[in-house]
Amino acid sequence: MRVVETVQELHRASAAERAAGRRVALVPTMGALHAGHLSLVEIARRRADRVWLSIFVNPTQFGPSEDLTRYPRPRERDLALCRKAGVDLVFAPGVDEIYPPGSQTFVEVTELSRPLCGRSRPVHFRGVATVVTKLLAAARPALAVFGEKDFQQLALIRRLARDLLLDVEIVGGPIVREPDGLALSSRNVHLDPEARTQALALPRALDAAERATAAGEREAATLLGVVRAELAKASRAEIDYAELCDPETLEPAPARLAGPTLLALAVRFGPAAEATAANRPGVRLIDNRLLLAPASPEESS
Ligand code: PAJ
Repeated sequence: MRVVETVQELHRASAAERAAGRRVALVPTMGALHAGHLSLVEIARRRADRVWLSIFVNPTQFGPSEDLTRYPRPRERDLALCRKAGVDLVFAPGVDEIYPPGSQTFVEVTELSRPLCGRSRPVHFRGVATVVTKLLAAARPALAVFGEKDFQQLALIRRLARDLLLDVEIVGGPIVREPDGLALSSRNVHLDPEARTQALALPRALDAAERATAAGEREAATLLGVVRAELAKASRAEIDYAELCDPETLEPAPARLAGPTLLALAVRFGPAAEATAANRPGVRLIDNRLLLAPASPEESS
């Protein structure tokens, strides 16, 4: 497995793969790899001749109150996991390599950056769109794989690839969960034991909404009531948002669902009573489920 730290070297590697007629799949990550990331490597391997994975903790997608320095960076462990997963090349650049001194160019996906996570994280998606554009320009892969766990991010990257006329296929991978249902996330390590237990309220709320939809419920307000009731069982959970929206445009769903609808959740677990805010800043978790809600029989007949 090759480890590459400069864009120049990556350009050369990319040119060599193209010349040999091999398709490269890129899996962009910020490291601290877990089984969710590795599932994307598997998808990449099935669809391409070479799998490249990038590890770059992107400073521009962190807000001023979000602790960039707290982000875990277990480099050797990550490289070992990549080797084991059969990654062919890891791109692990420094900040100056991706943002050359004097950088002043950013990519903004205007509408898709606004709702859901965009409301509480105003600079986040500009940072994501910018770094993903740069990673695609540096690696020039045939395809790039992203997780549905970050559904808004995936929708925005699909849009930017179309808008910027990029010759790359964007592929989504399903959410990987712990055996008890919690979606894998590099943030889960920051949950204290009580918050870890309470975090199961997220998948339970998604399950409850899915069951209600399967039983024929189509009223958005009723479904959100079911979701909120489930989240309310977790005493430390503060809802950032719980919304039903169009899976492509992320616009709010109609009052009565009539087609596939995204249920998106963001929930913050504040510090435990005995911990001070200074030493435990709280953990914000996101999760989502696509509710398949065909119009009810009496409406479609
Ligand atoms: P990061 O949080 O490291 O995630 C890298 C990729 O792994 C993303 O596409 C994310 O959706 C996916 N992922 C995370 N948890 C997952 C899970 N439980 N199941 C399946 N996939 C999962 O997302 C980012 O990094 C950054 O924003 C990035 C796109 C790399 C740009 O900096």
